[in-house]
Amino acid sequence: MACGRTLQHERPVKNICKIEWLCFYFHFFCLWMKIRTQTNDTKPKTGILMLNMGGPEKLEDVHDFLLRLFMDTDLLQLPVQNKLGPFIAKRRTPKIQEQYSKIGGGSPIKAWTTTQGEGMVKLLDEMCPETAPHKFYIGFRYVHPLTEEAIEQMEKDGVERAVAFTQYPQYSCSTTGSSLNAIYRYYSSRSDRPKMRWSVIDRWPTHPLLIECFAEHVVNELEKFPAEKRDDVVILFSAHSLPLSVVNRGDPYPQEVGATVQRVMDRLGHCNPYRLVWQSKVGPMAWLGPQTDEVIKGLCQRGKKNLLLVPIAFTSDHIETLHELDIEYSQILGEECGVENIRRAESLNGNPLFFRALADLVQSHLKSNKPCSRQLTLRCPLCVNPTCAQTKAFFSSQKP
Ligand code: FES
Repeated sequence: MACGRTLQHERPVKNICKIEWLCFYFHFFCLWMKIRTQTNDTKPKTGILMLNMGGPEKLEDVHDFLLRLFMDTDLLQLPVQNKLGPFIAKRRTPKIQEQYSKIGGGSPIKAWTTTQGEGMVKLLDEMCPETAPHKFYIGFRYVHPLTEEAIEQMEKDGVERAVAFTQYPQYSCSTTGSSLNAIYRYYSSRSDRPKMRWSVIDRWPTHPLLIECFAEHVVNELEKFPAEKRDDVVILFSAHSLPLSVVNRGDPYPQEVGATVQRVMDRLGHCNPYRLVWQSKVGPMAWLGPQTDEVIKGLCQRGKKNLLLVPIAFTSDHIETLHELDIEYSQILGEECGVENIRRAESLNGNPLFFRALADLVQSHLKSNKPCSRQLTLRCPLCVNPTCAQTKAFFSSQKP
């Protein structure tokens, strides 16, 4: 009897198993179809490589960040660089780690670039269906994701059209030039040619929406000064300085930063007096001035004690805004000099108008069908770096 019961029960159990297996196969088939469809749908047609120097996200990343920076011969040339570079990086690490620990333990630049990239790509997919889907990639010069890693990912993703998009609005051979040289070197160190068609947005110092963003942030901050002091405020546009040796070989950066400042002040109707000043000088060599800290001291001595600092050459917060401008100059130096009010305009960070500026730049660049600006094709008149010539030839010969 026991055996009979078992046999009676076996048939329905077998049927249930069959149904379960059928369900399982069907479910698996649906999943496979979904993944295939998604893969095809999201394969990026246009890849936008957002270039920047980057910053250490964690304190333990500081040394490697400094090492790559001091070894970058496009940024600076040191005697016996392969020995001196690592030595300086090691020596400076504790001091720079201390600065990063005071701004929350790391640089926010990757987080902001991600937010900006997402905002830009969302707009681009709506604005330019013919070049969609668009995908952004981050290519940092001195921290992960490195430019080379991003290019590798773009090639793997099967991107058809690649846009190298500098996130420095004003061109310098030390910043954008160094990132473009890195792209050129990536391909020249390999035997295979790029599978993607490349082009580059190499500068955008006077883009109307960029100017609008800066003007908006200046106005927002001016409004926070006491009403009776507002007219007295001196606006100090502060940009990262350059060694004079770089300026004197014909680097276009100082002129392009000046162009941004002029447009912002035109947009503001020249509401207040202003100066363009330069920050972050290091070492004993001569650098482009006047230096931001010396200007703050000089103005205070002359009775101008209401100051508005405006970072004009970086679009996201980084150590030079959060530590140098906010802590070193606004808090410590400001107190020493007896300022009445010193404030800093917010960086463009998560401003939706800035996402629109980025999307507009890419859209008009794609429509132009030009590989790069005419200005990129000219080397600095006193350039001695042979890679610059090869990089310019590489980009200007692309067929976008
Ligand atoms: Fe400017 Fe080479 S340093 S083109």
